[in-house]
Amino acid sequence: MEKLVIEGGKRLDGSLSIKGAKNSMLPIMAASVLSSSSKDLELLNIPDILDMHVMANILQSLGVKVKYKKNKLKINVQGLHSYTISDELMREMRSSIFLMGPLLARLGKVRVTYPGGCSIGPRPVDLHFKGLEALGAEIREEKGHIIASATRLRGAEIHLDYPSVGATENLMMAAVLAKGKTVINNAAKEPEIVDLQNFLNAMGADIRGAGTETLRIVGVEGLGNCTYRIIPDRIVAGTYLMAAAITGGRLLLKEIIPVHLDAVVAKMREAGVEIKVGEDSLEVTGGKLRGVETLRTLPYPGFPTDLQAPIMALLTLAEGNSTIIESVFENRFRHVDELKRLKADISVEGRTAYIKGVKKLYGAEVEATDLRAGAALVLAGLAAEGTTVVSNIKHIDRGYEHLEADLQKLGAKIQRIVTEESGVSCQRC
Ligand code: UD1
Repeated sequence: MEKLVIEGGKRLDGSLSIKGAKNSMLPIMAASVLSSSSKDLELLNIPDILDMHVMANILQSLGVKVKYKKNKLKINVQGLHSYTISDELMREMRSSIFLMGPLLARLGKVRVTYPGGCSIGPRPVDLHFKGLEALGAEIREEKGHIIASATRLRGAEIHLDYPSVGATENLMMAAVLAKGKTVINNAAKEPEIVDLQNFLNAMGADIRGAGTETLRIVGVEGLGNCTYRIIPDRIVAGTYLMAAAITGGRLLLKEIIPVHLDAVVAKMREAGVEIKVGEDSLEVTGGKLRGVETLRTLPYPGFPTDLQAPIMALLTLAEGNSTIIESVFENRFRHVDELKRLKADISVEGRTAYIKGVKKLYGAEVEATDLRAGAALVLAGLAAEGTTVVSNIKHIDRGYEHLEADLQKLGAKIQRIVTEESGVSCQRC
């Protein structure tokens, strides 16, 4: 089992470039099976993170060839022969549900395991299923497996009850090869949806409207290959901004799309952090932190739920009180108990967390319960007095490429160690 050991109290200082977005990469990798080209698809700016390797394993298990080298993926779909994702791979990554839409569109059938619950709540997939059924798929459950089939999907008008990111993506990927027009109303507006649209259109799809609440898709007969560069990871960028701010440091983030972080920049400024916005950069200078009255996580362009845990770590050291309402996920406060081990003052009632700023955090042994919770604990450890040991860091490796190397470069004292104990495996977004 690996752990991160952090000696807190070092001010971060320097600059970093941000790699591609995990949440763009995963659906785009899944969408590759829609191609009927014998040539390679090339994906650029791909982060070397655990989730990328898991998705590559899943594609390979279906007969797809995947090669990864230096942030570039080459994918060849010619050998695609299977429509079944094994239970084991499905358990490793809940996002494998993304393959339902594209496999159904391409092979007319798909068999997956029910993705079930995870550490941040039950995470149902009803919207994915309802949308696929509207497109003409027949979905049945058989001994814990879900089997969906359709000879050819047909365009439909779909209204999502909630702008689910995953459901929007799954339905976009299913609809691109459907017969006729599809309209998805109340679609998610996240930048990763726009990225998926741009990728699919580069392969020959006909999709308009990504970034708004209405997507219009005209089905085409087939998709080809392309070379595509994915957008920078706004959540990784936000995590580093907060890492610099929590240590009272300075950081220049390069190769990002600042507008994707508007809500984050606004809340960090409210908390007293100075941020300069450049064309493709953000520069943060930490100072005296103050509490923010109410922060509510929301679908884009609201404050992202994936940065709720990291900003909570920051606010534990702000002067005064802060309130955070988690409105996207039902149960996403598991980091609270861990932050309390570092002597943060937080109480939770339902989906609301009340944070009373403390003068200092103190190093302790803590456990990453999910990806972003893990990042939050690293941030708290960077600011805490003494040593913090974060265990179960497999979660962190799912979404951050060489987190400790980046932080070391900025002056943090952080090290990865290997211990004998075995970790508890759990998955999350
Ligand atoms: C994606 C992101 C994740 C982020 C989340 C919200 C990826 C790989 N993951 O997850 O990092 O935290 O968006 O921005 O892109 N819901 C239903 N029924 C459904 C689908 C969703 O009730 O069929 C609910 C979920 O339980 C949750 C909310 O909708 O409460 C948002 O989920 P969704 O937007 O689907 O998130 P994911 O796509 O799973």
